[in-house]
Amino acid sequence: MNLKHDFDAVVERRHTLCKKWDTYGDDVIPMWIADTDFKCPQPIVDAIKKRAEHEVYGYPCVDHAYEEAVRGWQHRRFGWDIESDWVEYTPAVVPAIVYAMKAFTHPGDQVLVQMPAYHPFPQVIPHNGRHLVPNLLQENADGSWSVDWEDFEQKAADSRTTMFLLCSPHNPTGKCFTREELTRMAELCAKYHVFVVSDEIHSDIVYKGSRHIPFGSVSSWAADHCVVCVNPSKTFNIAGFRTGAAIIPNRNNHTLFYNEMANLKAFGRNIFGTLAVQTAYNECEYYADQEMEYLQENLNYTHKFLEARIPQIKLGPVQATYLLWLDCRGLGMDHLTLMDFFLKKAKVALNDGYTFGMGGDGFMRFNIACPRTQLVEALERMARAIGALG
Ligand SMILES: Cc1ncc(COP(=O)(O)O)c(C=O)c1O
Repeated sequence: MNLKHDFDAVVERRHTLCKKWDTYGDDVIPMWIADTDFKCPQPIVDAIKKRAEHEVYGYPCVDHAYEEAVRGWQHRRFGWDIESDWVEYTPAVVPAIVYAMKAFTHPGDQVLVQMPAYHPFPQVIPHNGRHLVPNLLQENADGSWSVDWEDFEQKAADSRTTMFLLCSPHNPTGKCFTREELTRMAELCAKYHVFVVSDEIHSDIVYKGSRHIPFGSVSSWAADHCVVCVNPSKTFNIAGFRTGAAIIPNRNNHTLFYNEMANLKAFGRNIFGTLAVQTAYNECEYYADQEMEYLQENLNYTHKFLEARIPQIKLGPVQATYLLWLDCRGLGMDHLTLMDFFLKKAKVALNDGYTFGMGGDGFMRFNIACPRTQLVEALERMARAIGALG
């Protein structure tokens, strides 16, 4: 099958109860929340339509095609040879993180998180009676990011720290961790008995020169002490189906995780979601490849545009994700003024970096997963508004 997807196609999403487009006014271009403005792959559309035509949507039974689709994707895309019975369906990734936290830590324990962090992390940890321990990523002179190893070890060594919640690749900095970095994290976590939950939802979106390494593949200790969370929702624009998968290589850990889900009766599957995920992983590799080519061009365009037209905003090398972590400190505004400025003067909605916690102040997160015409218009609006500041 030689399918070609048109990523330039503009789809009207306003007034469709779309969080991205219907949160702000019609005159605002939304470049914030992490979904794409691309149509999802045709094989998924066809599969959903066909299933919908059955006109009966009762309880499904489980045939393990979902687990098998996750296994196949991990093998083909990342060379991680997992077994399908390591896979557990979850209703999205963040709930999976919560089940893992409940299964592998106790109330009052500390969870280590590299900051700045995807904003639900700092929410779900205290909401579930655990404490967040921050490990601030270090900014290099070229705008890339490094782990502060001394601080990481110090925090991991604290006997109250029982879990490390990794985001790999990292949202919001766009860092893709190398095998060496992941191995070192695993060694430190092994040394101090810290369980690892690795959120790998952005693993398909990695630019040339970098490579995603699943955490569970770095060592046998890592495999035995991790839950890896994935979801094709970011890649294929199917987040509205509320799917996800936890990959848990150790059988005992898998049972503990499953028990947490079972206690909450949280294991029911969505018939359309499972179908969308299976179709994505089994039939839509072409789409993921073409999307990466498109995003690479959007990224190159943005880099050049900012350098030439908005030098006040800095963007370091981006290794992964379609979420760019724009350093707006050169504009000299506090975070509320920045948010207001982009929304009201530029008419572009970005995510306020401040909401990503420690290290986020002065940054804004900018989503480039949209048709090029939209990206160009958003950047032009930003350049005009900043130009008008004088
Ligand atoms: C790192 C990360 N994890 C999880 C999610 C949300 O995933 P889900 O909707 O499957 O809970 C996002 C969405 O932006 C994300 O960036």
